[in-house]
Amino acid sequence: MKLFSTASLLYALGAVGLVAAALPKDVPLRLSQGFWHARFSVGPQNFSLTVDTGSFAVLISEGLYKPNPTSVQTNQGEFIQFNGANEDGTLFASETFTFVKDNVTFDDVALAGFLVGNITDGDPLDEDGIIGFSPPASEITDPNDPTFLAGQSLAQAICDQENISPCEFGLALKTDGTGSLIFGPIDESKIKGNLTTQKTLAFDAWWVVNTTEADSPFFVVGDQVVTHIQPIFDNGTPNVIGPLDTVRAALESVGYAIIETTDDNNVTNIFGTYDCSCEPARFGFSFPPSAEVHYIDLGANVLNRTADGKTCTANILGSSMVDAPTWQIGQTWFQGRYVQHNLNTSTIAFAELA
Ligand SMILES: *[C@@H]1O[C@H](CO)[C@@H](O)[C@H](O)[C@H]1NC(C)=O
Ligand SMILES: *[C@@H]1O[C@H](CO)[C@@H](O)[C@H](O)[C@H]1NC(C)=O
Ligand SMILES: *[C@@H]1O[C@H](CO)[C@@H](O)[C@H](O)[C@H]1NC(C)=O
Ligand SMILES: *[C@@H]1O[C@H](CO)[C@@H](O)[C@H](O)[C@H]1NC(C)=O
Ligand SMILES: *[C@@H]1O[C@H](CO)[C@@H](O)[C@H](O)[C@H]1NC(C)=O
Ligand SMILES: *[C@@H]1O[C@H](CO)[C@@H](O)[C@H](O)[C@H]1NC(C)=O
Ligand SMILES: *[C@@H]1O[C@H](CO)[C@@H](O)[C@H](O)[C@H]1NC(C)=O
Ligand SMILES: *[C@@H]1O[C@H](CO)[C@@H](O)[C@H](O)[C@H]1NC(C)=O
Repeated sequence: MKLFSTASLLYALGAVGLVAAALPKDVPLRLSQGFWHARFSVGPQNFSLTVDTGSFAVLISEGLYKPNPTSVQTNQGEFIQFNGANEDGTLFASETFTFVKDNVTFDDVALAGFLVGNITDGDPLDEDGIIGFSPPASEITDPNDPTFLAGQSLAQAICDQENISPCEFGLALKTDGTGSLIFGPIDESKIKGNLTTQKTLAFDAWWVVNTTEADSPFFVVGDQVVTHIQPIFDNGTPNVIGPLDTVRAALESVGYAIIETTDDNNVTNIFGTYDCSCEPARFGFSFPPSAEVHYIDLGANVLNRTADGKTCTANILGSSMVDAPTWQIGQTWFQGRYVQHNLNTSTIAFAELA
Protein backbone atom coordinates (compact mmCIF):
# COMPACT_ATOMS: atom_id res chain seq x y z
CA MET A 1 0.00 0.00 0.00
CA LYS A 2 1.32 3.38 -0.82
CA LEU A 3 1.40 5.77 2.03
CA PHE A 4 0.27 9.34 2.12
CA SER A 5 1.74 10.67 5.34
CA THR A 6 1.49 13.96 7.22
CA ALA A 7 4.84 14.32 7.20
CA SER A 8 17.94 -10.35 9.76
CA LEU A 9 18.19 -13.23 10.60
CA LEU A 10 17.37 -15.70 9.07
CA TYR A 11 20.69 -15.68 7.59
CA ALA A 12 21.83 -17.07 10.88
CA LEU A 13 25.38 -18.35 11.06
CA GLY A 14 24.59 -21.77 12.44
CA ALA A 15 26.76 -21.88 15.52
CA VAL A 16 29.28 -19.20 16.34
CA GLY A 17 32.67 -20.04 14.90
CA LEU A 18 33.86 -21.60 11.71
CA VAL A 19 30.66 -23.35 10.79
CA ALA A 20 29.54 -22.67 7.22
CA ALA A 21 26.80 -20.07 6.96
CA ALA A 22 23.35 -21.59 7.03
CA LEU A 23 21.17 -20.97 4.02
CA PRO A 24 19.11 -17.80 4.30
CA LYS A 25 15.91 -18.58 6.10
CA ASP A 26 12.53 -18.36 4.43
CA VAL A 27 9.58 -16.80 6.18
CA PRO A 28 6.50 -18.38 4.58
CA LEU A 29 3.92 -16.05 3.05
CA ARG A 30 0.48 -16.81 1.69
CA LEU A 31 -1.71 -14.84 -0.69
CA SER A 32 -5.28 -14.05 0.26
CA GLN A 33 -7.54 -11.46 -1.38
CA GLY A 34 -4.66 -9.63 -3.03
CA PHE A 35 -2.41 -9.44 0.04
CA TRP A 36 0.55 -11.54 1.21
CA HIS A 37 0.35 -12.50 4.86
CA ALA A 38 2.89 -13.59 7.46
CA ARG A 39 2.59 -14.53 11.10
CA PHE A 40 3.79 -11.96 13.60
CA SER A 41 3.60 -12.20 17.40
CA VAL A 42 3.34 -9.30 19.82
CA GLY A 43 3.72 -10.39 23.43
CA PRO A 44 1.39 -13.41 23.74
CA GLN A 45 -0.78 -12.45 20.74
CA ASN A 46 -0.37 -13.94 17.27
CA PHE A 47 -1.38 -11.89 14.27
CA SER A 48 -1.62 -12.44 10.52
CA LEU A 49 -0.21 -9.29 8.94
CA THR A 50 0.14 -8.05 5.37
CA VAL A 51 3.77 -7.78 4.26
CA ASP A 52 3.86 -4.33 2.64
CA THR A 53 6.96 -2.91 0.95
CA GLY A 54 4.99 0.31 0.39
CA SER A 55 4.82 1.44 4.03
CA PHE A 56 7.17 1.70 7.00
CA ALA A 57 5.69 0.68 10.36
CA VAL A 58 4.11 -2.37 11.99
CA LEU A 59 0.42 -1.55 12.58
CA ILE A 60 -2.22 -3.66 14.32
CA SER A 61 -5.86 -3.15 13.31
CA GLU A 62 -8.16 -1.21 15.60
CA GLY A 63 -9.35 -3.17 18.61
CA LEU A 64 -7.09 -6.23 18.22
CA TYR A 65 -3.97 -5.37 20.23
CA LYS A 66 -4.48 -6.09 23.92
CA PRO A 67 -2.26 -4.74 26.70
CA ASN A 68 0.05 -7.34 28.23
CA PRO A 69 2.81 -7.31 30.90
CA THR A 70 5.53 -6.43 28.36
CA SER A 71 3.73 -3.56 26.61
CA VAL A 72 4.97 -0.05 27.36
CA GLN A 73 2.84 2.83 26.09
CA THR A 74 4.30 5.81 24.29
CA ASN A 75 2.20 8.89 23.61
CA GLN A 76 3.59 9.13 20.10
CA GLY A 77 2.06 8.15 16.81
CA GLU A 78 0.77 9.38 13.51
CA PHE A 79 -2.20 9.71 11.17
CA ILE A 80 -1.71 8.20 7.72
CA GLN A 81 -3.68 7.28 4.64
CA PHE A 82 -3.08 4.37 2.31
CA ASN A 83 -4.28 3.76 -1.18
CA GLY A 84 -4.60 0.24 -2.57
CA ALA A 85 -6.22 -0.88 0.68
CA ASN A 86 -8.65 -3.46 -0.70
CA GLU A 87 -8.54 -6.42 -3.04
CA ASP A 88 -8.92 -4.51 -6.31
CA GLY A 89 -6.75 -1.60 -5.22
CA THR A 90 -9.45 1.06 -5.41
CA LEU A 91 -10.00 1.74 -1.71
CA PHE A 92 -8.45 4.21 0.70
CA ALA A 93 -7.77 3.58 4.37
CA SER A 94 -7.17 6.25 7.02
CA GLU A 95 -5.48 5.20 10.25
CA THR A 96 -4.64 6.94 13.53
CA PHE A 97 -2.30 5.04 15.82
CA THR A 98 -0.04 5.33 18.84
CA PHE A 99 3.01 3.18 19.39
CA VAL A 100 3.50 0.63 22.13
CA LYS A 101 6.94 -0.85 22.85
CA ASP A 102 6.59 -4.57 23.11
CA ASN A 103 8.44 -7.85 22.65
CA VAL A 104 7.73 -9.19 19.20
CA THR A 105 8.59 -12.36 17.28
CA PHE A 106 8.82 -12.69 13.52
CA ASP A 107 9.54 -16.19 12.44
CA ASP A 108 12.26 -17.25 14.92
CA VAL A 109 13.62 -13.78 15.57
CA ALA A 110 12.63 -12.20 18.89
CA LEU A 111 13.02 -8.45 19.27
CA ALA A 112 12.59 -6.75 22.65
CA GLY A 113 10.96 -3.34 22.94
CA PHE A 114 9.96 -3.01 19.29
CA LEU A 115 7.58 -0.17 18.32
CA VAL A 116 4.19 -1.59 17.38
CA GLY A 117 1.49 0.76 16.12
CA ASN A 118 -1.83 0.33 17.95
CA ILE A 119 -4.52 1.70 15.67
CA THR A 120 -6.99 3.59 17.84
CA ASP A 121 -9.20 4.91 15.06
CA GLY A 122 -9.07 3.49 11.58
CA ASP A 123 -10.67 1.93 8.57
CA PRO A 124 -10.64 -1.87 8.34
CA LEU A 125 -7.40 -3.37 7.04
CA ASP A 126 -6.93 -6.77 5.53
CA GLU A 127 -6.65 -9.48 8.24
CA ASP A 128 -4.91 -8.11 11.39
CA GLY A 129 -2.83 -5.22 10.06
CA ILE A 130 0.42 -4.44 8.26
CA ILE A 131 4.15 -5.09 8.50
CA GLY A 132 5.96 -2.34 6.63
CA PHE A 133 9.14 -3.09 4.66
CA SER A 134 9.68 0.23 2.87
CA PRO A 135 12.95 2.16 3.24
CA PRO A 136 12.97 4.40 6.33
CA ALA A 137 10.42 7.18 6.58
CA SER A 138 12.06 10.49 5.67
CA GLU A 139 10.69 11.92 8.89
CA ILE A 140 10.80 9.50 11.84
CA THR A 141 10.30 12.19 14.49
CA ASP A 142 9.29 15.84 14.21
CA PRO A 143 11.16 18.44 16.33
CA ASN A 144 8.06 20.65 16.26
CA ASP A 145 5.64 17.92 17.26
CA PRO A 146 6.72 15.66 20.14
CA THR A 147 3.66 13.44 19.61
CA PHE A 148 4.73 12.54 16.06
CA LEU A 149 6.46 9.19 15.47
CA ALA A 150 6.59 7.27 12.19
CA GLY A 151 7.65 3.99 13.80
CA GLN A 152 10.52 1.56 13.37
CA SER A 153 11.74 -0.59 10.51
CA LEU A 154 11.30 -4.29 11.19
CA ALA A 155 13.82 -5.17 8.45
CA GLN A 156 16.45 -2.87 9.93
CA ALA A 157 15.84 -4.14 13.48
CA ILE A 158 16.27 -7.73 12.30
CA CYS A 159 19.42 -6.90 10.32
CA ASP A 160 20.90 -5.10 13.33
CA GLN A 161 20.17 -7.91 15.77
CA GLU A 162 21.15 -10.77 13.46
CA ASN A 163 24.19 -9.02 11.94
CA ILE A 164 22.87 -9.09 8.40
CA SER A 165 25.03 -6.66 6.44
CA PRO A 166 24.31 -5.33 3.93
CA CYS A 167 20.74 -5.20 5.18
CA GLU A 168 18.73 -6.86 2.43
CA PHE A 169 15.72 -9.08 1.95
CA GLY A 170 13.94 -10.72 -0.96
CA LEU A 171 10.34 -11.47 -1.76
CA ALA A 172 9.92 -14.66 -3.76
CA LEU A 173 6.21 -14.69 -4.59
CA LYS A 174 5.03 -17.61 -6.69
CA THR A 175 2.02 -17.76 -8.98
CA ASP A 176 0.35 -20.42 -6.78
CA GLY A 177 -0.33 -18.11 -3.84
CA THR A 178 2.66 -19.20 -1.76
CA GLY A 179 5.87 -17.30 -1.27
CA SER A 180 8.79 -16.44 0.96
CA LEU A 181 10.42 -13.46 2.57
CA ILE A 182 14.13 -14.22 2.68
CA PHE A 183 16.66 -12.15 4.63
CA GLY A 184 20.25 -11.84 3.46
CA PRO A 185 21.71 -12.16 -0.04
CA ILE A 186 19.69 -13.41 -3.00
CA ASP A 187 19.16 -17.14 -2.84
CA GLU A 188 20.69 -17.95 -6.24
CA SER A 189 19.11 -21.38 -6.27
CA LYS A 190 15.69 -19.77 -6.57
CA ILE A 191 16.31 -17.58 -9.66
CA LYS A 192 17.02 -17.91 -13.37
CA GLY A 193 17.82 -15.52 -16.23
CA ASN A 194 19.12 -12.00 -15.94
CA LEU A 195 19.13 -9.97 -12.76
CA THR A 196 17.83 -6.41 -13.25
CA THR A 197 19.03 -3.85 -10.70
CA GLN A 198 17.51 -0.40 -10.21
CA LYS A 199 18.60 2.48 -7.98
CA THR A 200 15.80 3.65 -5.66
CA LEU A 201 15.13 6.45 -3.21
CA ALA A 202 16.75 5.92 0.21
CA PHE A 203 13.53 6.98 1.97
CA ASP A 204 9.80 6.26 2.06
CA ALA A 205 9.33 4.01 -0.99
CA TRP A 206 11.11 1.57 -3.28
CA TRP A 207 10.79 4.26 -5.92
CA VAL A 208 13.11 3.94 -8.88
CA VAL A 209 15.26 7.01 -9.54
CA ASN A 210 16.67 7.79 -12.98
CA THR A 211 19.46 10.20 -13.85
CA THR A 212 18.22 10.94 -17.36
CA GLU A 213 14.90 10.37 -19.06
CA ALA A 214 16.51 7.80 -21.35
CA ASP A 215 17.50 5.51 -18.47
CA SER A 216 14.05 5.53 -16.85
CA PRO A 217 11.91 2.40 -17.22
CA PHE A 218 9.19 1.95 -19.84
CA PHE A 219 5.56 0.90 -19.71
CA VAL A 220 5.01 -1.68 -22.46
CA VAL A 221 1.77 -2.91 -24.07
CA GLY A 222 2.23 -6.12 -26.02
CA ASP A 223 5.54 -5.49 -27.77
CA GLN A 224 4.98 -1.71 -28.04
CA VAL A 225 6.96 0.62 -25.79
CA VAL A 226 4.45 3.26 -24.63
CA THR A 227 6.11 5.77 -22.33
CA HIS A 228 8.81 6.40 -19.75
CA ILE A 229 7.72 5.88 -16.17
CA GLN A 230 8.99 6.17 -12.60
CA PRO A 231 7.81 3.02 -10.83
CA ILE A 232 7.25 2.46 -7.12
CA PHE A 233 7.63 -1.24 -6.28
CA ASP A 234 5.06 -2.05 -3.61
CA ASN A 235 3.98 -5.65 -3.00
CA GLY A 236 1.35 -4.41 -0.53
CA THR A 237 -0.67 -2.94 -3.39
CA PRO A 238 -2.90 -5.68 -4.82
CA ASN A 239 -2.42 -4.81 -8.50
CA VAL A 240 -0.63 -2.55 -10.95
CA ILE A 241 -1.84 1.05 -10.91
CA GLY A 242 -0.94 3.78 -13.40
CA PRO A 243 -1.99 7.35 -14.22
CA LEU A 244 -5.54 7.74 -15.58
CA ASP A 245 -4.70 9.10 -19.01
CA THR A 246 -1.85 6.65 -19.73
CA VAL A 247 -3.96 3.67 -18.72
CA ARG A 248 -7.02 4.89 -20.62
CA ALA A 249 -4.96 5.28 -23.81
CA ALA A 250 -3.30 1.88 -23.34
CA LEU A 251 -6.63 0.10 -22.84
CA GLU A 252 -8.16 1.84 -25.83
CA SER A 253 -5.13 0.93 -27.97
CA VAL A 254 -5.88 -2.78 -27.44
CA GLY A 255 -9.62 -2.35 -28.04
CA TYR A 256 -10.79 -2.75 -24.46
CA ALA A 257 -14.01 -1.11 -23.26
CA ILE A 258 -13.40 1.59 -20.63
CA ILE A 259 -15.26 1.68 -17.33
CA GLU A 260 -14.72 4.88 -15.40
CA THR A 261 -15.89 5.35 -11.82
CA THR A 262 -15.56 8.24 -9.35
CA ASP A 263 -16.01 7.53 -5.64
CA ASP A 264 -17.07 9.66 -2.64
CA ASN A 265 -13.49 10.87 -2.19
CA ASN A 266 -13.42 12.11 -5.79
CA VAL A 267 -10.97 9.37 -6.73
CA THR A 268 -11.48 8.33 -10.36
CA ASN A 269 -10.59 4.81 -11.47
CA ILE A 270 -10.45 3.30 -14.94
CA PHE A 271 -10.90 -0.38 -15.70
CA GLY A 272 -10.71 -2.03 -19.10
CA THR A 273 -12.91 -4.96 -20.05
CA TYR A 274 -12.71 -7.42 -22.91
CA ASP A 275 -14.35 -10.57 -24.16
CA CYS A 276 -12.94 -13.48 -22.13
CA SER A 277 -12.85 -15.69 -25.24
CA CYS A 278 -10.18 -13.36 -26.71
CA GLU A 279 -6.49 -13.50 -25.94
CA PRO A 280 -5.81 -10.87 -23.26
CA ALA A 281 -3.35 -8.04 -23.95
CA ARG A 282 -0.06 -8.21 -22.11
CA PHE A 283 1.13 -5.29 -20.01
CA GLY A 284 4.64 -5.00 -18.61
CA PHE A 285 7.73 -2.93 -18.02
CA SER A 286 11.25 -2.75 -19.39
CA PHE A 287 14.36 -1.36 -17.77
CA PRO A 288 16.95 0.21 -20.09
CA PRO A 289 19.51 -0.53 -21.31
CA SER A 290 17.92 -4.01 -21.54
CA ALA A 291 14.92 -4.31 -23.88
CA GLU A 292 13.65 -7.42 -22.07
CA VAL A 293 9.97 -6.94 -21.12
CA HIS A 294 8.80 -8.10 -17.71
CA TYR A 295 5.06 -8.77 -18.07
CA ILE A 296 2.41 -9.15 -15.40
CA ASP A 297 1.46 -12.82 -15.06
CA LEU A 298 -1.93 -13.26 -16.77
CA GLY A 299 -3.25 -15.54 -14.06
CA ALA A 300 -2.48 -13.02 -11.33
CA ASN A 301 -5.31 -10.65 -12.19
CA VAL A 302 -7.16 -9.49 -9.07
CA LEU A 303 -9.47 -7.28 -11.11
CA ASN A 304 -11.50 -10.06 -12.76
CA ARG A 305 -15.11 -9.47 -11.87
CA THR A 306 -17.12 -11.59 -14.19
CA ALA A 307 -19.74 -13.78 -12.65
CA ASP A 308 -20.77 -15.15 -16.04
CA GLY A 309 -17.18 -15.67 -17.22
CA LYS A 310 -17.84 -13.75 -20.45
CA THR A 311 -16.40 -10.33 -19.65
CA CYS A 312 -12.84 -10.14 -18.34
CA THR A 313 -11.11 -7.16 -16.78
CA ALA A 314 -7.60 -5.94 -17.67
CA ASN A 315 -4.89 -6.47 -15.09
CA ILE A 316 -3.93 -2.76 -14.92
CA LEU A 317 -5.94 -0.06 -13.17
CA GLY A 318 -5.88 3.67 -13.93
CA SER A 319 -6.25 5.95 -10.92
CA SER A 320 -6.37 9.69 -10.33
CA MET A 321 -4.31 8.96 -7.18
CA VAL A 322 -1.25 8.26 -9.35
CA ASP A 323 0.39 11.16 -11.17
CA ALA A 324 2.36 10.54 -14.37
CA PRO A 325 5.07 9.41 -14.77
CA THR A 326 4.61 7.45 -11.50
CA TRP A 327 3.30 3.85 -11.50
CA GLN A 328 2.61 1.61 -8.51
CA ILE A 329 3.86 -1.87 -9.30
CA GLY A 330 1.86 -4.11 -7.01
CA GLN A 331 1.86 -7.79 -6.09
CA THR A 332 0.42 -9.12 -9.34
CA TRP A 333 3.66 -8.11 -11.07
CA PHE A 334 5.76 -9.64 -8.26
CA GLN A 335 4.21 -13.06 -8.90
CA GLY A 336 6.74 -15.40 -10.54
CA ARG A 337 9.67 -13.19 -9.56
CA TYR A 338 12.30 -12.86 -6.84
CA VAL A 339 12.54 -9.19 -5.88
CA GLN A 340 15.51 -8.23 -3.70
CA HIS A 341 15.53 -5.05 -1.59
CA ASN A 342 18.78 -3.56 -0.28
CA LEU A 343 18.57 -0.91 2.45
CA ASN A 344 22.32 -0.14 2.35
CA THR A 345 22.66 0.51 -1.37
CA SER A 346 19.04 1.69 -1.91
CA THR A 347 18.51 -0.68 -4.78
CA ILE A 348 15.91 -3.13 -5.91
CA ALA A 349 16.91 -6.12 -8.05
CA PHE A 350 14.77 -8.83 -9.59
CA ALA A 351 14.89 -12.00 -11.64
CA GLU A 352 12.46 -14.71 -12.70
CA LEU A 353 11.86 -17.47 -10.16
CA ALA A 354 13.57 -20.69 -11.20
C1 LIG B 1 1.03 -18.17 19.21
O1 LIG B 1 1.82 -19.00 18.38
C2 LIG B 1 2.76 -19.77 19.11
C3 LIG B 1 3.67 -20.46 18.12
O2 LIG B 1 2.93 -21.18 17.19
C4 LIG B 1 2.00 -20.75 19.99
O3 LIG B 1 2.93 -21.49 20.76
C5 LIG B 1 1.11 -19.95 20.94
O4 LIG B 1 0.31 -20.84 21.71
C6 LIG B 1 0.19 -19.02 20.17
N1 LIG B 1 -0.50 -18.16 21.12
C7 LIG B 1 -1.81 -17.98 21.07
C8 LIG B 1 -2.36 -17.05 22.11
O5 LIG B 1 -2.53 -18.52 20.23
C1 LIG C 1 -4.73 0.00 21.95
O1 LIG C 1 -5.67 1.05 21.93
C2 LIG C 1 -6.92 0.68 22.49
C3 LIG C 1 -7.88 1.84 22.25
O2 LIG C 1 -7.31 3.02 22.72
C4 LIG C 1 -6.73 0.33 23.96
O3 LIG C 1 -7.96 -0.10 24.51
C5 LIG C 1 -5.71 -0.80 24.08
O4 LIG C 1 -5.41 -1.05 25.42
C6 LIG C 1 -4.42 -0.41 23.38
N1 LIG C 1 -3.50 -1.56 23.36
C7 LIG C 1 -2.32 -1.55 24.00
C8 LIG C 1 -1.48 -2.78 23.86
O5 LIG C 1 -1.94 -0.61 24.63
C1 LIG D 1 11.02 -9.22 26.70
O1 LIG D 1 12.35 -9.18 26.19
C2 LIG D 1 13.33 -8.98 27.21
C3 LIG D 1 14.69 -8.85 26.52
O2 LIG D 1 14.92 -9.96 25.67
C4 LIG D 1 13.32 -10.16 28.15
O3 LIG D 1 14.25 -9.91 29.21
C5 LIG D 1 11.94 -10.32 28.74
O4 LIG D 1 11.92 -11.50 29.52
C6 LIG D 1 10.91 -10.42 27.63
N1 LIG D 1 9.61 -10.51 28.25
C7 LIG D 1 8.74 -11.48 27.95
C8 LIG D 1 7.47 -11.49 28.74
O5 LIG D 1 8.99 -12.31 27.10
C1 LIG E 1 24.83 -1.16 6.08
O1 LIG E 1 24.38 -0.02 6.82
C2 LIG E 1 24.58 -0.13 8.23
C3 LIG E 1 24.05 1.12 8.88
O2 LIG E 1 22.74 1.36 8.50
C4 LIG E 1 26.06 -0.28 8.54
O3 LIG E 1 26.23 -0.50 9.92
C5 LIG E 1 26.62 -1.47 7.77
O4 LIG E 1 28.02 -1.53 7.97
C6 LIG E 1 26.33 -1.32 6.29
N1 LIG E 1 26.80 -2.51 5.61
C7 LIG E 1 27.52 -2.45 4.47
C8 LIG E 1 27.95 -3.75 3.89
O5 LIG E 1 27.84 -1.39 3.94
C1 LIG F 1 19.88 -11.52 -20.73
O1 LIG F 1 20.76 -10.49 -21.09
C2 LIG F 1 21.53 -10.78 -22.25
C3 LIG F 1 22.52 -9.66 -22.45
O2 LIG F 1 21.87 -8.41 -22.40
C4 LIG F 1 20.59 -10.96 -23.45
O3 LIG F 1 21.33 -11.32 -24.59
C5 LIG F 1 19.58 -12.06 -23.14
O4 LIG F 1 18.64 -12.14 -24.18
C6 LIG F 1 18.86 -11.76 -21.84
N1 LIG F 1 18.01 -12.87 -21.46
C7 LIG F 1 16.72 -12.83 -21.59
C8 LIG F 1 15.96 -14.02 -21.12
O5 LIG F 1 16.13 -11.85 -22.05
C1 LIG G 1 13.40 10.52 -15.15
O1 LIG G 1 12.45 10.00 -16.07
C2 LIG G 1 11.23 10.74 -16.14
C3 LIG G 1 10.31 10.02 -17.08
O2 LIG G 1 9.98 8.78 -16.56
C4 LIG G 1 11.48 12.16 -16.60
O3 LIG G 1 10.29 12.89 -16.58
C5 LIG G 1 12.52 12.82 -15.68
O4 LIG G 1 12.88 14.07 -16.17
C6 LIG G 1 13.77 11.94 -15.56
N1 LIG G 1 14.66 12.50 -14.54
C7 LIG G 1 15.84 13.03 -14.87
C8 LIG G 1 16.66 13.54 -13.71
O5 LIG G 1 16.24 13.08 -16.00
C1 LIG H 1 -12.39 16.06 -8.49
O1 LIG H 1 -11.16 15.74 -9.13
C2 LIG H 1 -10.99 16.41 -10.39
C3 LIG H 1 -9.67 15.91 -10.99
O2 LIG H 1 -9.61 14.51 -10.97
C4 LIG H 1 -10.97 17.92 -10.18
O3 LIG H 1 -10.88 18.55 -11.44
C5 LIG H 1 -12.25 18.34 -9.48
O4 LIG H 1 -12.14 19.70 -9.16
C6 LIG H 1 -12.42 17.55 -8.18
N1 LIG H 1 -13.71 17.88 -7.57
C7 LIG H 1 -13.84 18.13 -6.28
C8 LIG H 1 -15.21 18.42 -5.80
O5 LIG H 1 -12.88 18.11 -5.50
C1 LIG I 1 -8.77 -13.89 -14.50
O1 LIG I 1 -9.23 -14.31 -15.78
C2 LIG I 1 -8.27 -14.99 -16.58
C3 LIG I 1 -8.88 -15.23 -17.93
O2 LIG I 1 -10.11 -15.85 -17.76
C4 LIG I 1 -7.88 -16.27 -15.85
O3 LIG I 1 -6.86 -16.93 -16.56
C5 LIG I 1 -7.34 -15.93 -14.45
O4 LIG I 1 -7.06 -17.09 -13.73
C6 LIG I 1 -8.35 -15.09 -13.68
N1 LIG I 1 -7.72 -14.65 -12.43
C7 LIG I 1 -8.38 -14.58 -11.30
C8 LIG I 1 -7.60 -14.11 -10.11
O5 LIG I 1 -9.56 -14.87 -11.20
